[in-house]
Amino acid sequence: MCETKDSPVGVRIKDIVAETHDTKTFILDRAIDAKPGQFVMVWIPRIDEKPFTITGSGKSLAITVKERGGATKAMHNMKKGDILGIRGPYGDGTYDLTKKKKIMLVCGGCGTLGLVLLLEEAMRKGISVDAIIGADTKKNILFADKFRKLGADVIITTDDGSAGKKGFATSVLEERLKIQKYDAIYTCGPEIMMQSVLKLGMMHGVEVQASLERWMKCGFGICGGCALDPSGLRVCKDGPVFKTDVLKDIEGFGTMTRDKSGAKVFWKDMC
Ligand SMILES: Cc1cc2nc3c(=O)[nH]c(=O)nc-3n(C[C@H](O)[C@H](O)[C@H](O)COP(=O)(O)OP(=O)(O)OC[C@H]3O[C@@H](n4cnc5c(N)ncnc54)[C@H](O)[C@@H]3O)c2cc1C
Ligand code: FES
Repeated sequence: MCETKDSPVGVRIKDIVAETHDTKTFILDRAIDAKPGQFVMVWIPRIDEKPFTITGSGKSLAITVKERGGATKAMHNMKKGDILGIRGPYGDGTYDLTKKKKIMLVCGGCGTLGLVLLLEEAMRKGISVDAIIGADTKKNILFADKFRKLGADVIITTDDGSAGKKGFATSVLEERLKIQKYDAIYTCGPEIMMQSVLKLGMMHGVEVQASLERWMKCGFGICGGCALDPSGLRVCKDGPVFKTDVLKDIEGFGTMTRDKSGAKVFWKDMC
């Protein structure tokens, strides 16, 4: 049989690690060579197919899944030895570390998982990394220990002050940018947070790279379901990571997305 990256391949779950009360990492029986920011389409038998960022590459592909709706609930009920279908890796637009010496990562909620491979690569390249990990409350802080072990200088923020500094990740970023020069800011998380990161980056003349989330069907650029207005750039193929030059021109960045039918919807009405 001819195997392509666009046909699902059956992979077995080798291990499952509980990260928080609602988030698990699935270590899969499949080697993969992925760049930071890339994702795979995961077929959950008899349920659905969904995109997930790659949080572990090399000998074992890993994905980290927050329980939200039908597909992710079904995944959380799966056991070691169960089978998933995987296609990918996808995404030509990945995080770019070229010529960087000192960088800042700004992670919101489960956006932290989108920056793990980037942090690993930055460490391999000897780049100095500061990271702000923001969450609404303590129990939703993800990967803080992992980030510290990898070598990042981590600041925690929570909206309710139950851990770290009380307030938004972007307030800490604003303070840091007054005293520290960064070669780039890398962000992943709620789009409203990434919109603020973009504004701060532009004010201080620092490049921003952000990973976007849109409804995905094909995952490799043919259905148009994830196209951005007005450029028509596709998040699955041209992204999911975009830089300041593209982010600043996206219509409704931080406020608007599209639902699975393609209709425009506001992020504030979706939470
Ligand atoms: C490139 C990419 C990478 C992703 N990586 C991860 C990851 O690493 N870990 C992870 O937990 N999740 C990730 N997601 C989101 C993941 O695909 C969703 O968690 C999943 O679609 C939810 O599926 P569900 O069937 O459980 O919930 P559903 O019932 O489909 O959705 C639950 C809620 O989330 C909303 N929603 C779901 N997907 C989207 C979307 N793409 N855009 C806007 N709203 C949406 C729905 O409107 C609904 O309100 C990623 C999404 C994209 C596009
Ligand atoms: S999901 Fe089909 S073009 Fe992006």
